Amino acid sequence: MKYRIRNHANPLATRNRLDPIDWDTVTAGKTRVSLDIGFGKGDFITEYATRHPTELVMGVEVRRRAVTVFHETPRPSNCLAFWGTAVVCLEDVIPSQSLDRVTIFHPDPWFKKRHHKRRVMTPQLLELLKDRLKPHGVVYISTDVYTLYNAIMQLLLSNDDKHYLSSDPFWTSDYGTHWSTFSTQQWRSLFTATFQFKASI
Ligand SMILES: C[S@@+](CC[C@H](N)C(=O)[O-])C[C@H]1O[C@@H](n2cnc3c(N)ncnc32)[C@H](O)[C@@H]1O
Repeated sequence: MKYRIRNHANPLATRNRLDPIDWDTVTAGKTRVSLDIGFGKGDFITEYATRHPTELVMGVEVRRRAVTVFHETPRPSNCLAFWGTAVVCLEDVIPSQSLDRVTIFHPDPWFKKRHHKRRVMTPQLLELLKDRLKPHGVVYISTDVYTLYNAIMQLLLSNDDKHYLSSDPFWTSDYGTHWSTFSTQQWRSLFTATFQFKASI
């Protein structure tokens, strides 16, 4: 059966909180722990978890239906999905200094100026990422919307607490999402940012 999933959900209208998980049990024996923010159809999580069975891949998605479909579809056991906003997931579920990687692929651009406040990348999110990433933890961001990329870079560069990685094998070996496939088919340019927080190096 084909599910219709709405294309947009206003993250500012999502109020639910998440139950904490038994972090030590869930991550026991895992060689790397990642969080994918805004996983959409979950293609990246599923593919990555399949190819890297020793790692734990978590995802958070604000569209409730997308999370329901994710849970209703068979997935590898080393992936976990949460319904909520990125901020709520980081606040309620993820302990300090516990993530090796955070990925944010093709975040919604929210083109209208009055909607910019709905964009996922905010100073609040950055502060949380800084706390929840392990030392040497890496953030991977991609978009094919140049104006959004510019806005994200302005925000990242507004504080000198990051170290940018000019190339990372991840982008050629493991990157691939539902939206990146569509974007490639449309010959759109891809803009990426890869960084670590300096304080955590
Ligand atoms: C354009 S889609 C990209 C989906 C996927 N990352 C990909 O590349 O195919 C952006 C996704 O981010 C989700 N999203 C937007 N704001 C979010 C937030 N604050 N927290 C969690 N998910 C969010 C949207 O619901 C949407 O599914």
